[in-house]
Amino acid sequence: MSIMITGGTGFLGAEICRLLVEDGERPVLLDPYPPRGRLPELKDHYLYVPGSLTNLPVLLNTVRQYEVDTIFHLGGMLSLPSEQDPWNAFEVNVVGTYNVLEACRLSGIAKLIFASSVAVYGEDIAGDVITDDTLQRPASFYGAGKVFSELQGRFYARRFGLDFRGLRLPSVVGPGSRVAHMTIYNCWAIEHPLRGLPYRVPVEPETRCPTIYYKDAARAFHMLGKADAASISSKVYNVAGQSPAYTAAQLVEAVRGHLPGADLGIDPDPNISQLLQGLSRLALDDAPARREWGWNPAFALEEMVADFVAEFRAHPAIYSM
Ligand SMILES: NC(=O)c1ccc[n+]([C@@H]2O[C@H](COP(=O)([O-])OP(=O)(O)OC[C@H]3O[C@@H](n4cnc5c(N)ncnc54)[C@H](O)[C@@H]3O)[C@@H](O)[C@H]2O)c1
Repeated sequence: MSIMITGGTGFLGAEICRLLVEDGERPVLLDPYPPRGRLPELKDHYLYVPGSLTNLPVLLNTVRQYEVDTIFHLGGMLSLPSEQDPWNAFEVNVVGTYNVLEACRLSGIAKLIFASSVAVYGEDIAGDVITDDTLQRPASFYGAGKVFSELQGRFYARRFGLDFRGLRLPSVVGPGSRVAHMTIYNCWAIEHPLRGLPYRVPVEPETRCPTIYYKDAARAFHMLGKADAASISSKVYNVAGQSPAYTAAQLVEAVRGHLPGADLGIDPDPNISQLLQGLSRLALDDAPARREWGWNPAFALEEMVADFVAEFRAHPAIYSM
């Protein structure tokens, strides 16, 4: 029996792969893009299958060939690309998840762990705290796809007995993120100074953005995957990383603490600031994840910046490119 990760060569998929390899597993990574970043270091410990979620026969052949019994489903298009190309995002994120669910049903796969997002929430949230029960009415196409995918998963659990679980992640911070998105400043405020580049954070100093360090995010998937089925009642869980979320000014100060010579400042972009204003007041409540399967993040702001700097410096050839 083996474990498959869709989107397995991506930012988070690769880190989950690392945790599974530490367990002695040999995960199957299904992704159209070949292994990159730090993945090749693990090269004999995983199997790479080039393939798309949009192709059900490829999914079925893969899960049958490698006798997959658990899938971590992370493959997909992120928020900005989905906004720019909703037509492909529908095929990859919505139909792709349906295909993964069908592969589970047709091949008798027991367990599916899905990567959802706090993008499932809209701007019309009453109160200042997001819980697992908060209304999901996103404005973005990406968020709408995640809501439908969560609901598809719950349907397959009820109708076909699939052990479906999922995490709603806030913005993930880690080295090596090259694709711009609304909250990428949380990564680039650390990474650009490490690469010797100037950087200006494009939001107001007091702006807060819910984030989680990539090692915590991968560990949350790993923990959820292993949790005893009897303890899983909510099925899909918010997980908070740094809670309460840090401000942009606190981020800059933490980076300067490690990189005193950094050419780092704050220069708010009115468009980005306005888009993030709604987020700033909101706190993520992850009590069900803590209660049901023991979630507890390891990286607060200071630990996150320290580990990011150490990780970058330990692998300059990979992250400096
Ligand atoms: N990074 C974040 O801030 C964040 C926050 C919330 C949720 N998530 C979710 O976590 C998951 C992983 O995100 P990530 O940060 O690792 O992003 P990523 O872009 O690094 O990884 C996604 C992977 O999916 C692959 N992919 C794209 N199209 C595919 C297709 N048709 N078939 C199979 N694979 C395909 C990509 O090649 C990529 O390797 C995604 O589902 C994302 O929506 C990420």
